Amino acid sequence: MLSQQQLNAYWMPFTGNRDYKAAPRVVASASGMYYRDQDGREILDGTAGLWCVPLGHSHPTVVKAVQDMVATLDYAPAFQIGHPAAFELAEQLIDYTGNAFGQVFYTNSGSEAVDTALKMVLAYHRSRGEGQRTRFISRERGYHGVGFGGMSVGGLPANRKQFGNLLGGVDYLPHTHNLEKNAFSRGLPEYGTHLADELERLVALHDASTIAAVIVEPLAGSAGVILPPKGYLQRLRNLCDKYGILLIFDEVITGFGRMGTPFAFNYFGVEPDLMTTAKGLTNGVVPMGAVFSKPAIYDALMQGPAGIELFHGYTYSGHPLACAAGLASLKVFKEEKVLEHAQSMTAYWEDALHSLKGLPHVIDLRNVGLIGAIELESIAGKPGARAMAVYKKAFAEGVLIRTTGDIIALSPPLILEKKHIDVLFGKLSEILKNVD
Ligand SMILES: Cc1ncc(COP(=O)(O)O)c(C=O)c1O
Repeated sequence: MLSQQQLNAYWMPFTGNRDYKAAPRVVASASGMYYRDQDGREILDGTAGLWCVPLGHSHPTVVKAVQDMVATLDYAPAFQIGHPAAFELAEQLIDYTGNAFGQVFYTNSGSEAVDTALKMVLAYHRSRGEGQRTRFISRERGYHGVGFGGMSVGGLPANRKQFGNLLGGVDYLPHTHNLEKNAFSRGLPEYGTHLADELERLVALHDASTIAAVIVEPLAGSAGVILPPKGYLQRLRNLCDKYGILLIFDEVITGFGRMGTPFAFNYFGVEPDLMTTAKGLTNGVVPMGAVFSKPAIYDALMQGPAGIELFHGYTYSGHPLACAAGLASLKVFKEEKVLEHAQSMTAYWEDALHSLKGLPHVIDLRNVGLIGAIELESIAGKPGARAMAVYKKAFAEGVLIRTTGDIIALSPPLILEKKHIDVLFGKLSEILKNVD
């Protein structure tokens, strides 16, 4: 049992602290598809932690690699010095993208990856004599972490309103969520491809010569699983090419198998210039993020006088433990054919999710890869309350889900089996029938 002092001492992130501390939910251990609480009660992980444990918890290969590394090289500075695992991982990551990128820059989180990518873009344009390209275009309802850069290009009002003016020079594409046209779509929605053309309007307004980059999540996760309409990302790519604007895909949740492909860009067949990742990179075991860049971006900065080319980096960039976890995770992805397994589950997953159609409060179900969303009608005047009630009930009944407003987002470890899908949707179905 946690004491009142302990509860009070921990200021919890993205949590209703008072509500939580009145009735804490605690996990004490985890393996495979399950968390366990302090009494050993199993909780099925319907969300892979925070989308970050694709291989399941405490995978022995990853655990062993981290144990070995901590006993060998506990820490190495990343400035002006390196260690073998950092280079090996970079090479293997590039290979995992099918050589779509040339370089990897390590950070410690998705937020830092986003801020790093934004800084790289500015430095790139400046190095090519286009230093006036400083504007970023992102999208309403986007989530790009909580650094000032990521928050500024983020499009979730609650994440912005407490924090002042943020970065200037950001404009926003409309989001693509449209229940009237797309409710209960299976896979990518048909309606909304034209929304990418809003970039033309923003280019006309600001002039292309002032725009540095467009940053979007290929699939918006934190906003509650908003899928790109068919052809939307390709249109954005084409427009960016037309105007010399760089395209950044924030793949912090979609990277490392979530769509059944290594990255979402593989799934959509649309390559960005920069890609931000984190989470599944180390199976969530050690914090790490990575920015992937096209060779042209790196090469542009490798000009000029010798010396530091990019004044940016973190004390823990390329931490040996994170690199060990990353290398081991890639090994597991390949050797255990995790993506093939994920793909073999998606049809069953889709059917199970859509079997909830017609249950009380359910106004939309949507899915792609091993991602699902259940959108509930909000209780008048209490947005988010209904989904939160489902969340609490599910946890009490041994299932971990995630909510954003009144949207339930599901993103299980990719190793799940049909029996887990049955339990997850079976429980949710019962709860939805009984929740107010
Ligand atoms: C698309 C996207 N970008 C950035 C982040 C921030 O990552 P982190 O929480 O590791 O800073 C997240 C986190 O969920 C995310 O989904």
